[in-house]
Amino acid sequence: MGSATIVKEAIWLEEHGADIIIAQGAEAGGHRGMFLTENIAEQPGTFALVPQVVDAVKVPVVAAGGIADGRGIAAAFALGASGVQIGSAYLRCPESTLSGPQRAALAQAHDDSTVVTNVMTGRPARGVKNRVMAEVGPISEHAPAFPHAATALAPLKAAAEKHGKVDFTTLWAGQAVRMGREMPAAELTRALAGAALARMSHLAG
Ligand SMILES: Cc1cc2nc3c(=O)[nH]c(=O)nc-3n(C[C@H](O)[C@H](O)[C@H](O)COP(=O)(O)O)c2cc1C
Repeated sequence: MGSATIVKEAIWLEEHGADIIIAQGAEAGGHRGMFLTENIAEQPGTFALVPQVVDAVKVPVVAAGGIADGRGIAAAFALGASGVQIGSAYLRCPESTLSGPQRAALAQAHDDSTVVTNVMTGRPARGVKNRVMAEVGPISEHAPAFPHAATALAPLKAAAEKHGKVDFTTLWAGQAVRMGREMPAAELTRALAGAALARMSHLAG
């Protein structure tokens, strides 16, 4: 399995033997899986990307980015996906290793709290905007190449975290992070699957 953020990457993955392709829309949290493009501004959203990847390849496609409840899962299947990959909705599960201040920042995030930035690690990734992203980014041509930006920020991160601050800490999360729920991951998975099946049978009926 490999992530594609544009159709060209999906075709490349299929030609190089991928059995399953994850179509990762721009809404997704964390580092972008982009590898044949560097242009953040051109990255398509999940709704535009998934059907175009489904049309371009023969292998099954997993939809990723902005999916956080039964409605999103049903929509992904309607677009032709064979599965979904969900990250941000699980961030506040007890199994997640986030610190208290990171959890608090994510719990306060809204639909417009995240940006794609390169200043935290040197590679584009989506996360909740913190002080360093706001003051020197979110995108800067001066960001050291991956992973040196993270190394350079490490002393500031450590000093701020001692005071419970996330000013220099990564808060990787996607645009649907607000829809995440605080419950054990297995329970959340069962709830998501149940809600998706209910939504799909409602749509079919
Ligand atoms: C905390 C976090 C870290 C992630 N790190 C990476 C990464 O290093 N590389 C990558 O291709 N995707 C990364 N992702 C993206 C996920 O693999 C997945 O595509 C994404 O979470 C799905 O979209 P969603 O966040 O809207 O659910 C990360 C996601 C999160 C939430």
